[in-house]
Amino acid sequence: MELNGTGRVNERGHLEIGGVDVMDLAAEHGTPLYVYDVALIRERARGFKRTFEKLGVTAQVAYASKAFSSIAMIQLAEQEGLSLDVVSGGELYTAIQAEFPVDKIHFHGNNKSEEELHMAMDYKVGCIVVDNFSELSLLDRITSERKEKVKILLRVTPGIEAHTHDYILTGQEDSKFGFDLTSGQAEEALKQALESQGIEVLGLHCHIGSQIFQTTGFLLAAKKIIGQLKKWNAEFSYQPKVLNLGGGFGIRYTSEDEPLRPAQYVEEIVTEVKNQIADSSLSMPEIWIEPGRSLVGDAGLTLYKVGSEKDVPQVRKYLAVDGGMSDNIRPALYEAKYEAVLANRPNDPVEETVSIAGKCCESGDMLIWDLPLPKAGRGDILAVFCTGAYGYSMANNYNRIPRPAVVFAEGGEARLVIKRETYEDLVRLDLSYQQALNSK
Ligand code: LLP
Repeated sequence: MELNGTGRVNERGHLEIGGVDVMDLAAEHGTPLYVYDVALIRERARGFKRTFEKLGVTAQVAYASKAFSSIAMIQLAEQEGLSLDVVSGGELYTAIQAEFPVDKIHFHGNNKSEEELHMAMDYKVGCIVVDNFSELSLLDRITSERKEKVKILLRVTPGIEAHTHDYILTGQEDSKFGFDLTSGQAEEALKQALESQGIEVLGLHCHIGSQIFQTTGFLLAAKKIIGQLKKWNAEFSYQPKVLNLGGGFGIRYTSEDEPLRPAQYVEEIVTEVKNQIADSSLSMPEIWIEPGRSLVGDAGLTLYKVGSEKDVPQVRKYLAVDGGMSDNIRPALYEAKYEAVLANRPNDPVEETVSIAGKCCESGDMLIWDLPLPKAGRGDILAVFCTGAYGYSMANNYNRIPRPAVVFAEGGEARLVIKRETYEDLVRLDLSYQQALNSK
């Protein structure tokens, strides 16, 4: 199997990431353990940024922190000159704790609460991505009460279907996100926003889906949105400063996946926008994108310890590991596929096909079906690749399993960036029956 980034098999015959033997990490920090190849995250970020620079376009590459939000990760995003997409008070709070530059934070969400909007204004975030009419009127009221101004993008749904798993389609018209472009909703929203004293409409936003392998959807979305912008420019002289085309760039989870290079998505999108703008009275807007998965997805892997096994003769062999849907819910939720190797002997010849089960009390808690592996058993360490996006961020405490630790590996050094949850952490918010009675 081909290893990503700095991944290699070292002199001890172990898997190594960022110059660090992952067996040492498993011994020091325990399992399950998420390990990130920091150099690869930097490379991905620079790839996006450099392409915009090469094309001479003013741009922002905003890391969609929902993919993996933590203080150290957000500081890494800052080091690489990225902007930041947050979708909740919690993600915003994490960014603030990381001392991320507030003017480069974009606040998303289809149901921001009044408190969250105040929080965004208190911290003076760079822009709020407004999702619907009720948020628009709330923001109009809040800005007038506070006698302050906010910059916004209007999120529109251009009615483009990206070819990906149904659950992660967001660009189609029947979506909970955004103002529909075709029916005139988006136009009505723009008119309302332009009339509001406290609101400055920087431009439009769309996000057509996730794990997308082609550029067609992005190009169609850009064409459709710019078509509308031309009309609005003619009708009420609206000139957008920003066009945000979202994230969703696909990555290679298994050898079946064939994503494009990050640069190619950017090159084609920019060319289309330039072409569309060229024959109009619009001036070239800044182009913003919001990659999450393609910045951190293949830079992360999860180490598990193999425990029990079960053979169902003539059917399959199950190997169970010490994590599962509590640290990676994607196989259960999206039928997501992963590849894995034995970290303690990745070069051993493949001898059998096994299915990797998690330890949660649920039949659907399977991490990988039909994985070719050397003969493995209790004590072996399994490394599951490409778990860097939506792994930790969707981790949960089902069965009261503590969430794993997270380590950054770079240049031969490993740094713990999120501690493992303890059993004490699990009951930290619980009140005893007696405490509950007394608190009345
Ligand atoms: N921008 C917006 C407005 C989004 O809704 C998303 C993802 C992104 C950017 C980043 O998309 P990315 O580049 O990471 O594909 N939990 C699912 C993915 C949900 C994506 C939601 N929105 C998964 O594990 O596949």
